[in-house]
Amino acid sequence: MTERTLILVKPDGVARGLVGEVVSRLEAKGLRLVAAELRTLPRETAEQHYAEHAEKPFFGSLVDFITGGPLLALVAEGPRAIEAFRALAGATDPVRAAPGTIRGDFALEVQNNIVHGSDSPESAQREIGLFFPSL
Ligand code: TYD
Ligand code: MG
Repeated sequence: MTERTLILVKPDGVARGLVGEVVSRLEAKGLRLVAAELRTLPRETAEQHYAEHAEKPFFGSLVDFITGGPLLALVAEGPRAIEAFRALAGATDPVRAAPGTIRGDFALEVQNNIVHGSDSPESAQREIGLFFPSL
């Protein structure tokens, strides 16, 4: 059973030149790219993407950050792609993320944690629809 997930290389990852690193890790794992686009998000799209966090104290800062420069939006597929990419990404807090994961290897601050990956089939469907409505 193949599954699709939405992955973002966030503006910090693009600015630091980590696009190749992230894509290379997910391809090495066996995930297959089905869509990819570099774009700067409008505020409204960022607010929709992070709607579940709208009431959190970090929401405004998170939206500023994610709209602050170009990001790479990707859709990847494979068996258990959602869980597979979350495992490659590591824990949300990069200091707690295991070395060997993307966040564990390349980040120190929770907001600037390089990548996003959908966290459930429902989120993946919603997020893929938001970023790539034609898929
Ligand atoms: P969350 O969905 O909890 O994490 P994940 O990206 O692992 O699914 O949070 C979304 C993003 O919000 C997270 O990647 C970084 C940012 N964030 C903060 O800036 N501060 C925080 O305290 C938390 C929990 C998240
Ligand atoms: Mg999340």
